[in-house]
Amino acid sequence: MELLYEGKAKRLWTTEDPNTLRMEFKNDATAFNGEKKAQFEEKGRLNNAISTLIYGMLEKEGVPTHFVREIDETNVEVRKLDILMVEVIVRNFAAGSFCKRTGVEEGREFSKPIVEFSIKSDELGDPLVNDAYITELGLATEEDLAFFRESALKVNDLLIKFFAECGLQLVDFKLEYGRLCEDPSVIVLADEISPDGCRLWDLKTGEKMDKDRFRRDLGNVMEAYQEVLERVKKASEA
Ligand code: C5P
Repeated sequence: MELLYEGKAKRLWTTEDPNTLRMEFKNDATAFNGEKKAQFEEKGRLNNAISTLIYGMLEKEGVPTHFVREIDETNVEVRKLDILMVEVIVRNFAAGSFCKRTGVEEGREFSKPIVEFSIKSDELGDPLVNDAYITELGLATEEDLAFFRESALKVNDLLIKFFAECGLQLVDFKLEYGRLCEDPSVIVLADEISPDGCRLWDLKTGEKMDKDRFRRDLGNVMEAYQEVLERVKKASEA
């Protein structure tokens, strides 16, 4: 099968079905827009397993996603999409670039979730933008942006509850959306939901259980992902 796209953490391959693709989770880890790189032997498997369980939960709760089925430990079949070049970030607590931009101390709880958009572009370093930038650049319509906000807040509610059952606090996360190739009027959740794109803190100890362990050289990166998987598995079975 043909390699269609290779990103920092995933590859997309064609399948026999023109309406689906195979999404392969790689073991590569990158941070700071690709400046920092490493390989973690188990990362592809762990992220695939975590993301598959979370997409299963979201689908069950009525959130349409690109997920079709798990193929093997590091591959899933997904619906073929035209990805919208907008990253949708939801924040419940201050961390990461929010703190950097505002000087607010990490960990401040927001009175309500903050939804923000950035342009999905490695070249530009995913700049934070407002609605007018996005509509002016033709990256999405006002209607799409309203849909992103509504969907992202619903996903946030579901994830906060789900991760709380895992003993994890959902600090922030990134979502991507795409239009179905077979029916461009339908937008669904794309990409993955894993500790690579979410900040997750242990509810009891405050310990970081996500990619910040890699970004900040905290060590035990895959141990934390493994622990997240075990908790996600338990919560999914409950
Ligand atoms: O870096 P920042 O604080 O803006 O990230 C907010 C959240 O979005 C974090 O959970 C981070 O892992 C995620 N993110 C991502 N991919 C990006 C930018 C942010 O997964 N390109």
